[in-house]
Amino acid sequence: MPLASLKNIQTPAYVADIAAIRANMEKAKRIKKETGIKLLLATKGFAMPAVFPVMREILDGTTASGLYEARLGATHFGSEEQGKEVHTYSPAYTEENLKEILKYSSHIYFNSVHQLQKFAPRVRAARKNAVIGLRVNPRLPLVKNSALYDPSAPCSRFGVQKEELTDEVLAQIDLLHVHNLCENLAEDSEKLIEHVRVQFAFALPKIKHLNLGGGHFYTHKDYDIPRLIAALKKLKQDFAGTITLEPGAAHVLNGGYLVATVLDIIPHAQKIAILDASASTHMPDVLEVPYTPEIIGAQIVEQEKASEPNTYILGGNTCMTGDVIGTYKFEKPLEVGQKLIFTDMMQYSFVKNTTFNGIPLPDLALLHEDGRVEIVKHFGYEDFAGRLGA
Ligand SMILES: Cc1ncc(COP(=O)(O)O)c(C=O)c1O
Repeated sequence: MPLASLKNIQTPAYVADIAAIRANMEKAKRIKKETGIKLLLATKGFAMPAVFPVMREILDGTTASGLYEARLGATHFGSEEQGKEVHTYSPAYTEENLKEILKYSSHIYFNSVHQLQKFAPRVRAARKNAVIGLRVNPRLPLVKNSALYDPSAPCSRFGVQKEELTDEVLAQIDLLHVHNLCENLAEDSEKLIEHVRVQFAFALPKIKHLNLGGGHFYTHKDYDIPRLIAALKKLKQDFAGTITLEPGAAHVLNGGYLVATVLDIIPHAQKIAILDASASTHMPDVLEVPYTPEIIGAQIVEQEKASEPNTYILGGNTCMTGDVIGTYKFEKPLEVGQKLIFTDMMQYSFVKNTTFNGIPLPDLALLHEDGRVEIVKHFGYEDFAGRLGA
């Protein structure tokens, strides 16, 4: 079993499982083949260039949150000259960063009519073929896991209102952008697609491209891919232009691990194990969403059960009281030095980690299909000190 090779690696380490990501890409391939849509990788959710070759075979490009991600996408995933698209959407641009972004991005999306009107002429002048997009807020709350991630939440700062899409505004754009989901299943993808088809019918004949955002959780075991395909096909009957989806998380769902080591076990009535991986610094979504990640060979239980046999509260090696990953029941007592493998640790993990407390950043590694583990990057003191200006 290839996972056995993870037991020997230096920890902490994020390990991308190439076979699992390739399996996700097969689903992406099917959606593309049956609908003719384009699929991008949102690099905010996952950006490990060592894995890009596997994704590049299927995906059409990347979508960035700003200059650095645009540059990373163009440089490591593929630029327009290499046949890949690089889209960038930021809530706001400055004159200077937009100029730089235009070196890398084939598509620029604005968040307000004000920024569109201010910058669109400069975009057209600097990059003749650039596709100009405008984000619209569909006001259709569908996100269930957390209001933090719902673009349709009250007072959301994302996207213009439908009423702002006047003929004058539509004449300045090529693309409408509607990012509105987060870990949603096909039923909600369908609701969003149908909403756009009906509510924005007035705008569709006036644009060439439509980007229906990320959050379509198409690799989830309960995601009904044929339902997504049917909804997209229906939309295509009304809209002849390019249709794009830009998930991040779904492309790497269950696509890798965070491997940690038990550093100490504190035998309180409710037993505590301290790990070299931390919720606060290495798995920020555990605290932010919040959720409890799975561990191979362990069962998630309520905290009160930490007094039961083989059951432990797992926490990180930081000063933060709340740096608690969860409570888990194992098959046997934990031992100091034992490795634990957290699953589904590719999305929004290493792209968001920190060196708070001087905690070392986990290595980045690949688990190849033949079971070989390749360390892509080891982080050391210089990475910590450099960020602090040393
Ligand atoms: C504009 C935009 N596009 C795409 C995504 C990717 O979403 P997900 O990783 O949930 O698929 C996000 C996530 O926040 C986003 O803000």
